[in-house]
Formats: sequence, C-alpha cells, structure tokens
Amino acid sequence: MQIAIDGPASAGKSTIAKIIAKKLDYIYTDTGAMYRAATWLAQKEQVDYNAGATIVQLLQKNPISFQIHSDQQYIYVGDRDISTEIRMPQISNNVSQVAALPEVREFLVSQQQQIAADNNVVMDGRDIGTTVLPAADVKIFLVASVQERAHRRYLENLTRNIQTPLAVLEKEISLRDYKDSHRSISPLKKAVDAIEVDTTSLSIDQVVQKILKIINNKI
Ligand code: C5P
Repeated sequence: MQIAIDGPASAGKSTIAKIIAKKLDYIYTDTGAMYRAATWLAQKEQVDYNAGATIVQLLQKNPISFQIHSDQQYIYVGDRDISTEIRMPQISNNVSQVAALPEVREFLVSQQQQIAADNNVVMDGRDIGTTVLPAADVKIFLVASVQERAHRRYLENLTRNIQTPLAVLEKEISLRDYKDSHRSISPLKKAVDAIEVDTTSLSIDQVVQKILKIINNKI
C-alpha cells in the first residue's frame, strides 16, 4: 500500500502523515527531511548549493537513514542524528535550491522508491503523487492559507526556541513555495488524481479523520 501526501510548506503534511502511518501500522517517510539532509551535508562540507554531483558523492559516503527510538522517528546521515539541525532556518531557506538539482533528485527519488517497494508506506513531500509513486493507492494534496501555515510554523518554532517574526515566516514560506512550484524537475503540483484537503480551519484530528475516510473508501 502506498499513500502519498503532498502539498506546500507547513501545510501539516508530516504531522498528519505520522499519525496516519501509526494508525495503519505503515512506515512513514519524510522525503523533505532527505532534501534537508542533503542541504545540511552541503553546508557542513562547504559545498556550493549548485554542485549536484558533489552533493550526491557526499550522500553516498554518508547514507541517510531513518531510525525509531522510543516511538519517535529520527533522521541520520552516517551515524549522526541531524533531526533537530535540519529544521533550522539556514537549512529551510536553502533547501529549495539543493532540491532543484537533478542529480540530487534522481539519487533521493530512487531511495524513496526503494523504501516504498519494501514496505507499506505513508510518504510525504512535493512530488510523491506525481513522480515518486505515480501509482500510489491514495494521493492527498494538503493545503492551507499562507497565514495559517506561517502561524503554525511560528508556534512550532517557539517550541524549538527559534524566534522568527510571523511576517518573516510568511515571506519565507511563500518564497519556498514559489521556488518549489517553479523548478523545472518535479515541481510541487497536485497530481491529477489527488484529492485536495484544505486544513486551514480544521483541527489535526479533523484532518486525520477526513483522510482516513478517503483511504477507507479507496481500499
Ligand atoms: O517538507 P519540507 O518542508 O521539510 O521539505 C523541505 C524542502 O525539500 C521543500 O521546500 C522542497 O524544496 C524539498 N522537497 C522536494 N521534494 C520532496 C520533498 C521536499 O523538493 N518530495
């Protein structure tokens, strides 16, 4: 079983995907975290954000893995846990550039397809329904107003001690969406057979119930 959840930045994809995966006992794959890991590696090794082939070499030497400890999922490159560092603004504000590189996409998409070939998955990202898993059993496109998404990110940042003003977050999120939707390879786009769910005025539980209903109707 393959469940694809795509949508713009901070639409709640990972929160919802995690809950759905847990309820169904499927693997959850956060593909955004993989592009963030590639960006983190480039930053750490001071590699240019346009050097696709070099970034892929770094990823080959320092493989990405997801590990679960005490019911929480963490992302590693090599043996280093980078789960917290990849959420920092310097990664969020550069990840779209790295994610637009064809070599990086080819490398990570094939890993994502391998994960889905071996497991029942809920996978979230930007191009899961269009490119990574075009035959997914269920495709959801999660959206929310940019104001609501910035507000959610603001609250989430406070729990991580990141102090970015709301207006700045709104701009950063809009810019990331613009870059992700306008790149030439696998841009952020609703798949023709995806079902759009607007979460602007819904609680997490309401969104989960809505999506579980869609899944149950499809399988
Ligand atoms: O989902 P998240 O906001 O963590 O994704 C970070 C970035 O990774 C996105 O803004 C996008 O540039 C890139 N991404 C992508 N394709 C995916 C998932 C994420 O290009 N499937």
